[in-house]
This record gives sequence, structure tokens and C-alpha cells, in this order.
Amino acid sequence: MKADDIRRVYLEYMTETGHVVIPRAPLIPHDDPSTLFTGSGMQPLVPYLLGADHPAGTRVADSQTCLRVQDIDEVGDNRHTTFFEMLGNWSLGDYFKQEQLPQVWTFLTEKVGLDPNRIYVSCFVGDPAHGIPKDTESAEIWTRLFTEAGVSADQAEVDTEEHAAEVGTNGARIAFYGKKNWWCRGGDAESMPVGEPGGPDSELFYLYPEVEHDPAWGANCHQNCDCGRFLEIGNSVFMEYQRTETGFAPLPRKNVDYGGGLARIAAASIGTADVFKINLLWPIIEKLQDLSGKTYEDQTVAMRVIADHLRGATFLAVDGVRPSNKAQGYVMRRLIRRAIRYAFELGLEENFFPQIIPTIAGIYEAHYPEVREHAAFVEAVLSKEEQSFRRTLRKGIKQLKGYRKTGVTGVELFVLSDTFGFPVELSTEEAQRAGIAVSESWREEFDAQMAAQRARSQQATKAAS
Ligand code: ALA
Repeated sequence: MKADDIRRVYLEYMTETGHVVIPRAPLIPHDDPSTLFTGSGMQPLVPYLLGADHPAGTRVADSQTCLRVQDIDEVGDNRHTTFFEMLGNWSLGDYFKQEQLPQVWTFLTEKVGLDPNRIYVSCFVGDPAHGIPKDTESAEIWTRLFTEAGVSADQAEVDTEEHAAEVGTNGARIAFYGKKNWWCRGGDAESMPVGEPGGPDSELFYLYPEVEHDPAWGANCHQNCDCGRFLEIGNSVFMEYQRTETGFAPLPRKNVDYGGGLARIAAASIGTADVFKINLLWPIIEKLQDLSGKTYEDQTVAMRVIADHLRGATFLAVDGVRPSNKAQGYVMRRLIRRAIRYAFELGLEENFFPQIIPTIAGIYEAHYPEVREHAAFVEAVLSKEEQSFRRTLRKGIKQLKGYRKTGVTGVELFVLSDTFGFPVELSTEEAQRAGIAVSESWREEFDAQMAAQRARSQQATKAAS
């Protein structure tokens, strides 16, 4: 199935099961200074997970656009993207595990038609220190569902990924982990801020048996192994706890927070482990092949980075962000500049954004008409940034290469950033690529220069007033 069809079928199924479908929230959270971007489907739902009444009732669902910049360095492999859509549904004190796990199973195996033999799951092993029990209830539900589908449902208790890799799971269908099966926004049960909601989760994985396990990740493969044999496609969080000063207290209601990666489910559905092959990304790759005359096979990483970053920057522009030197605007600038940098590898040395943005608008116009509505404006914003950055990029790279013998410290990186508008992360990547040594304490040196500049400009403002 195509991703568009999966999204539609999911939302229809949610409606059938009594959910009210709500529109996506913008990538920039409203009234939530704790984070720059909407990084998961649950983020706009936090007040309701904490106990407020949702105007749409106790069963809501959506497809939420998300941005996770913490994954930026992983973009280039077959499954990480900064921008993605999460299919979400929430029970706000309504149904719990007994109804939700069979629901997601029906969606994946019947509605999308994934092979039950290739689905694996994980459950929470328990946290005795905080009095949170092992999630045997979820494991029992999974056992029943797998057994009914004629699939073996053996279990393994592995706790950590390291332990799982060391001892193996013997191919267990249901594996119990600790930290990996606790979900809260950012961080883990120990580091989550007081007041934050969280809980044990049960994750779903799709197996690609043709992918050979890579021993770089440990002796044995298992659900949470990063070698690429398993792709996480969904997560049901049983959000029933809230962090307190000393431990955890029950939330006023037991909630479910389900999130499924639309792109990954779509990839599984067409039998590829490469999310860039799905119809939400492939047209961009095709366009890049046309424009550059190069093939995806030869330029996989560059094409993946450009496709992901320009799609993210487009949605940021649609949601009102403009490139700048701070907060969300800085991230947007970084995405745009990184895309341009990788475009050089394709030989795309002239402005090419105006050719890509209509392709992105075409991909999303049916479900998110706002992308087409704002396309001309988005193109203007992104192209302006492209033009100005291209002017300085060549100069900056030349300058950086001048440090080949001496290496660079945070001082030179600051000058590059200040004079050429080179985001410091980009120059460190660039230096690595060119084999130029970067001092270990570049970040401190850079920050010191930044602080000194700030102090200088404050004095200047004072003197002028
Ligand atoms: N909030 C959960 C996640 O992002 C569903 O994985």
C-alpha cells in the first residue's frame, strides 16, 4: 500500500473504532516552551494526558507531522529522517491494553496486510526500584494474538540492549527490556522532569530476514538491534504515571498513547527496508536524479539528506518559521544549508530549490492542502536563503581548507560562522570530511568567542544610547 492509502485507511479505522480524528498541530508547539518542535504525536496532547478534558472526547486520533533534529546525523541511512508523520491514537482514560493492542494488530495485519510472521514486539521488564511491575499483561495479549495467527510466541527477558546482543534472544517473538520500554518525552524514567507523564510501552518491529546481522552491533541480533534487520514501526505507551520528586505517582487516568511511523509502515508494506522508496519521498529522489543526472545507487546518502532536509524545511516554512540565527529559525537554516552542501556532491551548484518545492507540494497537497497553498511563498523564503548561502559557501570552504596544516580551534570556527554564516556544526562536519583536525575543546572555545562578541555588542549598545 502507498503511504497515502495507509494514512487514509488508518484514520478511517480509527473513526470506525470510535475515535475523533483531529487535525495535525504545527511543527512549532504552542504554549510549550519546553521544546522547540513537535517531536511526537503526543506532544499536543500533553495537557489531556495529564488530566484535562479533551474537547473531542476520550478517543482521538490523527496523523501528526513531527521533527526530530536529534536524529540529524543519522539521516543518510535507510530509515532515519528528521521530518516524519506519526499515526497516533489516544485513549484518554478510556480503553487500555486489552483493547489497544488487538486494535493495532488489526490495523497492521488486516488493514495494511503486513505478514504476522515478520512482526516482533517488546514489553517492559519492570522497575522494582520504583514499584512498577513487569508488563506480563501485554505479553499475554500478544501471545494470544500471535498464536491465533499461527505464529510462535516465545519470550525472552533481556533487559538491556547490551545484554540482548551478548546472550541473544533465540529469535523470541516477545522480548522484555527495561529502559527501552519506558517512554516519556526526552530522557528516561530517572531524568524526566517532575510532573512529566510517562509509562511502560510495547513496541512493534518488522523483520527483514534478508538483511544479514551486522556483528558491529554485538554478537546477536534482537528487536532493538541497530543493524537494520528489525525496523521499529509502532509504539503503544501505557501512560499511567507521572514523575514526582521521589518516584512516580499514578496519573488521574490511565491513558494510551500510540504512535506508528507512517513511512516505516509504508516501507514494510511494499517490502523494502528503505523508507526513501515510499511515495512520500521517492518523487523527490527522482527529481534529484533528473536534475543531477546521477543515480540514487551512486549518491544514496546525499540524495536522502537533501530529500529529508528540504521536506522538513518546507513544512517549517508552511508552519511560519523563517531562517534565522536562533531557535527554530536556526534549525531551519541548518537543514537548508546542509541540503545545499550535499547538493554540491550531486554537482548541483546552482539554485535548485525552485525545482524541488513543487514536487514536495505535489506529494502532500491531497492530505495537507496548506503545503500547496503556501508553495509559492515557501519557495521564495527557501530560495532567498539558498541564494545568500551559496554566495558565501564557496568562500567559506576555501577558507576552511586553508587550515589543512594547522587544524582549527573554536576561534577559527567562530570567525567562519561570523563572517560566512557557516553554521558551526556544518564547519566541523566539513573539516572532518576534508581531514582537517578540529581541537577537542572547540565547543568551549567557540562559546567563549560568542560570549565575548555578545559583551562587545552590549557595550556598543550602551555607548550609543
Ligand atoms: N509517543 C510515543 C512515541 O513517540 C508513541 O514513540
